[in-house]
Amino acid sequence: MKVNGGLYRTIWLADDGQAVEIIDQTRLPHEFVTARLSSVDDAARAIVTMQTRGAPLIGITAAYGMALAMAQDPSDQNLEASYAKLIDTRPTAINLRWALDQMRHAIAPLETKVRRRAAFDRAGAMADQDIDRCRRIGANGLTLIEAAAAQKKDGPVNVLTHCNAGWLATVDWGTATAPIYMAFDKGIDIHVWVDETRPRNQGAALTAWELGHHGVPHTVIADNVGGHLMQHGLVDLCITGSDRTTARGDVCNKIGTYLKALAAHDNNVPFYVALPGPTIDWTLDDGVSEIPIEQRDGVEVREISGRTADGRIETISLVAPGSPVANYAFDVTPARLVTGLITERGICPASADGLRRLYPQQAKT
Ligand code: MRU
Repeated sequence: MKVNGGLYRTIWLADDGQAVEIIDQTRLPHEFVTARLSSVDDAARAIVTMQTRGAPLIGITAAYGMALAMAQDPSDQNLEASYAKLIDTRPTAINLRWALDQMRHAIAPLETKVRRRAAFDRAGAMADQDIDRCRRIGANGLTLIEAAAAQKKDGPVNVLTHCNAGWLATVDWGTATAPIYMAFDKGIDIHVWVDETRPRNQGAALTAWELGHHGVPHTVIADNVGGHLMQHGLVDLCITGSDRTTARGDVCNKIGTYLKALAAHDNNVPFYVALPGPTIDWTLDDGVSEIPIEQRDGVEVREISGRTADGRIETISLVAPGSPVANYAFDVTPARLVTGLITERGICPASADGLRRLYPQQAKT
């Protein structure tokens, strides 16, 4: 997508073929900086520190991490050690496990001398496939925005989104944002309500940044505003992403998504979730009890950083000294609150039947 008029992916092979480069998302929106990952340790660190983040991109970063590991040492022992290192980086997004399983499956049967090349080829193909899936999600979700636009007498179609399920969370296009970009590019009058998404502010820092660079009209709102907007007819539909969706359609996503879904349900606002196939965990049904929810360092709640008027990046504390904090990073929205799942294979009800129809070969029997 566009950054200062140039076209970027979030992750790419360095020109010298020896490393991988990423957009360092911890520096946005104040600085656009890229970082070089030269080893599996670099890749693991980039995921842990959230230089790269978002379920699909975590998976692709891990895939490249395996390729970097094979470049260092293509032995079986290192294959397994690197898998173990990368799988431990973040617990909730299932794309991580999916990508690592794909890589291990592709590499393990090969002779060690061809593993490096094969691993980079495989990771590159997975990155390309991620873009293709997001593009298809965009085309499928576009039909919903077109339908909403056709129903509106005047004014833009107002879409509310939470966190960053934009191109920064994938290799390109995004999941929740792909239909938005396509609608905008098609000339549909569209406006996006961007939840700021405390505590890490992925909405205010990342979604707003990428929408702004593409020229999409948007407004950043505090996380508690959505319900009020919905009560006043100011949201036509919600579209969020997902970090893990169960076989029966429960959706795990950034903390606060569930509250938006409750408000949408109470106000008859359609609540859609956009996700690619690798985000579905076919081994789980009940998302609330079965999905591991990441709990992050309390410092993210206690402190906030931003740019001062004279251009310095500063961190300040927010919380009364000595007060304990909790930092749950994700929550689960039960399938009953989800109007539909927008996937690369089409839009389906959030149900076991709906998902089984789209992914017949993967669904549990
Ligand atoms: O903690 P993050 O920033 O990795 O969380 C990201 C989200 O919750 C996204 O909504 C989700 O990964 C979907 S990305 C297409």
